[in-house]
Amino acid sequence: MTTTTRTEAELRAAIEREMPGVRADLERLVRIPGIAFDGFDHSQVERSAEAVAELLRGCSLDVRVVRSGGQPAVIGKRPAPPGAPTVMLYAHHDVQPVGDPSLWQSDPFEPVERDGRLYGRGAADDKAGILAHVAALRAFGDALPVGVVLFIEGEEEYGSDSLERLLVEYRDEIAADVIVIADSGNWDIGVPALTTSLRGIVNCFVEVRTLAQAVHSGMFGGGVPDALTTLCQLLATLHDPAGDVAVEGLVSGAGATVDYPEERLRAEVGMLDGVSFLGTGRLTDRFWNKPAISVIGLDAPPTAEAPNALVPSARAKLSVRLAPGDQAASAYAALVEHLRKHAPFGATVTVTREHDGEPCVIDASGPVYDAARAAFRTAWDGAEPVDMGVGGSIPFIETFRRMFPEAAILVTGVEDPHAQAHGPNESLHLGEFARVCLAEALLLAKVAEAKAAG
Ligand code: BES
Ligand code: MN
Repeated sequence: MTTTTRTEAELRAAIEREMPGVRADLERLVRIPGIAFDGFDHSQVERSAEAVAELLRGCSLDVRVVRSGGQPAVIGKRPAPPGAPTVMLYAHHDVQPVGDPSLWQSDPFEPVERDGRLYGRGAADDKAGILAHVAALRAFGDALPVGVVLFIEGEEEYGSDSLERLLVEYRDEIAADVIVIADSGNWDIGVPALTTSLRGIVNCFVEVRTLAQAVHSGMFGGGVPDALTTLCQLLATLHDPAGDVAVEGLVSGAGATVDYPEERLRAEVGMLDGVSFLGTGRLTDRFWNKPAISVIGLDAPPTAEAPNALVPSARAKLSVRLAPGDQAASAYAALVEHLRKHAPFGATVTVTREHDGEPCVIDASGPVYDAARAAFRTAWDGAEPVDMGVGGSIPFIETFRRMFPEAAILVTGVEDPHAQAHGPNESLHLGEFARVCLAEALLLAKVAEAKAAG
């Protein structure tokens, strides 16, 4: 091979040198409120894509901003040295909406450091994923031993609807031997992890109608069903008394090999005293290997303005998570069937699908996964990496797998149990972030070596 590669010590020193600049660039990205959801200012997603493109150009990549009917993605490419493998590095530059701004201790789009964490929407999910890739590239400078293609999506948090079209259109450009998806996280502070399973997802709306219009609650209450009470009864049928999902036809599994200690979990999520867990079985199985249904929103009259009237229609938004082995289409059909069958009082029930995505399981065995674990061990000073599942979803991993069946897929990331992704006060642990950056640089070096060796 013609490229001189970097030693472990050189990469360590290089990452240390690069971190202040990487941090400053991360802060610049966090200041751009690029939200791909309908109804948000999409010119900010354009700005965000442009800022990412600029960063990638600075890494001597050949860059273009691409779209296919959705929000802009950024592709940056540097060809492989002769005989060397190509690695695709994925992250997303769009972020979740911030929710109630009063719950944030500081402006979500003005990054600030408190106690070793950088706070801001997207500081972890997933702008730090982008910067982890950038940091690894900067650490190598001109001596990058592999080809890379960065694929930075602009609508992951809104269901990646145009991603498949982009993958088809740019297939030859983004094809790679190894795919690194930096959009998950690690097991704990100080404990790295490879993510080896993710749940699927079906997001949908359930609307219940009982009346043509609102009528006096005193005159008719007690005999005429209101839509909101009816909706609540319907939603209550989705779980059995123990809190397990009661929809027939959803796949449910088990087999998690690590425990999530209850007390740790209570503290991490901020469960209030006296509140018990939902469902049965090992907690890690409940999060990773079983389905879950959560009501994440409700359209009904706000209490402050509610007249004394029976509500004629009400709508809930459901987030349904699917166990590995399930399929989005059949799961949705089972859910619709359940909701229709359980409609109380003969109410009209209308179900509309928003997004869906398949679950996925990765067989993390073989030289690339070993290389990743070795890189993690070094970056975390000898800590043994864990194979973990996550309850969240990255639907397009299945699409990547279908399109690039030969590629090894590594799901990594910057999140830790305190990151509060999607919630108020999202943050990034800066110490862990530096380890993620180093691990990725080491991984690229090891992937090059593995290929050279055989
Ligand atoms: N980074 C998450 C996926 C994730 C969640 C990884 C939890 C590890 C732990 C990703 O950005 C995400 O939130 N995905 C959405 C997908 C949906 C919009 C189709 C999700 O899981 O809600
Ligand atoms: Mn993400």
